[in-house]
Amino acid sequence: GQFWLYGRPPEHAVRYDEEMDAWNVYGHAEVLEALSLPGVFSSAETARLMPDNAEDAFTEGDLLQMDPPDHRWLRNVVSHAFTPKVVADLEPRITRLARELLDAVAGAEEFDLMTALAYPLPVTVVAELLGIPAADQHLFEGWMTGVVGEMGGTSLADSAEEQERAFGAAMEHMRAMLGYLREHIAECRRGPRDDLLGGLLAAELNGRRLSDEHIVGFAKMLLIAGYLSTTMLIGNTMLCLDHFPDQMARVRADRALVPGLVEESLRYLSPVAATYRATAAEVRLAGRRIPAGKMVLVWFGAANRDARVFADPMAFDPARTPNPQLGFGRGIHFCLGAPLARMEGRVALNELFDRYSEIHADPDKPPTFMQAPDTTGVTSLPIRV
Ligand code: HEM
Repeated sequence: GQFWLYGRPPEHAVRYDEEMDAWNVYGHAEVLEALSLPGVFSSAETARLMPDNAEDAFTEGDLLQMDPPDHRWLRNVVSHAFTPKVVADLEPRITRLARELLDAVAGAEEFDLMTALAYPLPVTVVAELLGIPAADQHLFEGWMTGVVGEMGGTSLADSAEEQERAFGAAMEHMRAMLGYLREHIAECRRGPRDDLLGGLLAAELNGRRLSDEHIVGFAKMLLIAGYLSTTMLIGNTMLCLDHFPDQMARVRADRALVPGLVEESLRYLSPVAATYRATAAEVRLAGRRIPAGKMVLVWFGAANRDARVFADPMAFDPARTPNPQLGFGRGIHFCLGAPLARMEGRVALNELFDRYSEIHADPDKPPTFMQAPDTTGVTSLPIRV
């Protein structure tokens, strides 16, 4: 999907997939148009079209499965937890965390960048946002890596039994995590709090308080949305730099390029390669008629290589200006954690550059990748430093 539009004429920007009975949106302009019409390209409808979503019953507190006006209301409630000030205040803590994680592999000349840094950093940050006590934060890393290990390790090419087994095993981890979150939220209700959970516990929708299950659903979404994509951003960026050593040297020599490096990494290997919508009504997009009730895959990864928008899209250029990459989405669901993710990426990369004069992917141990087609990222990246 990432590369689908590349080199093809613009009329391929929107394409129907007969086998899946789904529509794919690949073009940059077309992705923007679809995301600007949340009433038609609905997020809430998507849950209804998804097969086998029963395990994932916590759709109510999940912004990504909500449409206006409920979406607007909940987004307002939680957005104060993601303001630039909150993100700036978190930076020293995140820097300290990145240093501690790299201290733990100090002296090693070969290690997996993902296990050492890219997995534990973002999950700890989200656990902290949720007010999880420091002593328990490692539990979340275990559960989330368990989910990812199972789901990221299987592909559509595996047998149905294997896919089912992996799904079941992933759900075991998920259930354990939800159980902890339920208890944590019940505990939080006992006293006033001045944080993200405090805001959620006090919030009212149409005169009703959010239920604990709503809040569990929200916390689960935050862990899923805030964790893996940031993990992949860190790994993918180092993979890109290994592929383009000239750019590695350039960024090392001019650290002011690090924020641009993060943007270019999100463009070049978009962790969230695609998102899902469902048409709530018939609609025309790029001259094609899409009927109501159809699944629509919106491909950020393909839009990010649309040659109508990005000159020389296959070149990796941390100084690309402008860089209207869509890795964080667009419109009302634009990534709430984008400032946080950008900061985490910048801090992690700067720590790596500060600490090691040379970083190379280990030629004897090739990286492994997420198998799910809607995500793009390394799951292991053995490096030599
Ligand atoms: C939504 C990407 C990190 C929280 C989104 C969307 C994308 C995205 C593409 C929109 C999906 C859609 O329209 O269907 C990413 C990437 C990240 C990242 C690439 C890292 C590099 C984070 C972090 C957090 C976060 C660190 C929070 C801790 C959210 C939330 C939403 C969201 C809450 C839902 C917003 C809404 O529906 O209104 N993200 N994200 N994300 N992201 Fe992120």
